Amino acid sequence: MSSAGLKSAPGGALRGIVRAPGDKSMSHRSMILGALATGTTTVEGLLEGDDVLATARAMAAFGARVEREGVGRWRIEGQGGFSEPADVIDCGNAGTGVRLIMGAAAGFAICSTFTGDQSLRGRPMGRVLEPLARMGATWMGRDKGRLPLTLKGGALRGLTYTLPMASAQVKSAVLLAGLHAEGGVEVIEPEATRDHTERMLRAFGAEVLVEDRVAGGKTFRHIRLPEGQKLTGTHVAVPGDPSSAAFPLVAGLIVPGSEVTVEGVMLNELRTGLFTTLLEMGADLVISNRRMASGEEVGDITARYSRLKGVVVPPERAPAMIDEYPILAVAAAFADGPTVMRGIGEMRVKESDRIALTAAGLQACGVTVEEEPEGMTVVGTQGGNHPVRGGGLVHTHGDHRIAMSHLVLGLAAEQAVAVDEPGMIATSFPGFVDLMRGLGGGLTEA
Ligand code: S3P
Repeated sequence: MSSAGLKSAPGGALRGIVRAPGDKSMSHRSMILGALATGTTTVEGLLEGDDVLATARAMAAFGARVEREGVGRWRIEGQGGFSEPADVIDCGNAGTGVRLIMGAAAGFAICSTFTGDQSLRGRPMGRVLEPLARMGATWMGRDKGRLPLTLKGGALRGLTYTLPMASAQVKSAVLLAGLHAEGGVEVIEPEATRDHTERMLRAFGAEVLVEDRVAGGKTFRHIRLPEGQKLTGTHVAVPGDPSSAAFPLVAGLIVPGSEVTVEGVMLNELRTGLFTTLLEMGADLVISNRRMASGEEVGDITARYSRLKGVVVPPERAPAMIDEYPILAVAAAFADGPTVMRGIGEMRVKESDRIALTAAGLQACGVTVEEEPEGMTVVGTQGGNHPVRGGGLVHTHGDHRIAMSHLVLGLAAEQAVAVDEPGMIATSFPGFVDLMRGLGGGLTEA
């Protein structure tokens, strides 16, 4: 894909059966756990996006042998731990990559320096450094723990840590550090977040104890990793990423006459809040062929053009769809009435400030959006009996999901929509443009 802009134009119906790319969260974790483990790990279905490739390079820098054997097929020879990297670790655009790797690296008496692209260098790392420092790791970095920063680990103490924000990345960093902490670790989640680290640690042979406990009328998830867990290499089959499947599926819902099926989508309930919400909006979304693959439920999802209605999204659903609000906002633009999204302040510290950029992008396309500090309301146009105008140039600030969301909008709007910096789509969905074109979507260079 060139670094020129991309444009999507309204055209005919979208039709076809496609596969979602491998799940980004599981792909990062398979590389990191493979490198921490002893012996051989083989991975199939790995997402070969820029973010995961940066993690693969990082694992080689920490001493693992990492080899690509074919499309999505990788072999990692772990040495049962990390050795000191000879140079700076560049995690590119990947918050998941750098935060999980810092957690893993903290378990060893080595010094490592991390950096990333402009977006990653602006993102808060204090949320991970704070618990790691309580365990005994030391670090030096820029103001508020921004990258580049240097971390020194080893001889960690155990920790019981209540997450101050709903973040699977922070939980995972503590658990990975906990593999080498005296007394193990316990993470307490006031809101359950994606549990791929827990599941994959078990697949690599670790004992992870998970219990929901009620206190003061509220349920807290306790995740305990007892001391002395050893990881052994294994086989990981990465299922399709629901966060990526969201784009062709929403396109199918909003482009008249469409029918789009995405096969092999992971259905872990801590990831599928978008599909629940779309069903509540009246979407014709059908899940078939449910099956288990590598400890995760997967299924095929078919989306047919639907008349959607606006809804109030329960704030407690946010952790199960935090990356999907930009594309939900696009679906909401085509719905009948307002869609209210609250409790999503975490969106402001993603690859970009996604509340601000979603609101600005939709407004540039003629959609009414009210922005709040921790939420937004999108006023759908269908009830007014007029379609979304489109026609905007959307500034993505290098955010892949902002780019893909607005390109989907352009397929159903009155006028074409252009986005800048489309090269960043390759961080999570390298085949996006070809896949959408294969369905009949009019995507061209701008
Ligand atoms: C991820 C967790 C989420 C999500 C990110 C992937 C993960 O981030 O936004 O894309 O793989 O653990 P937070 O943990 O910051 O919510």
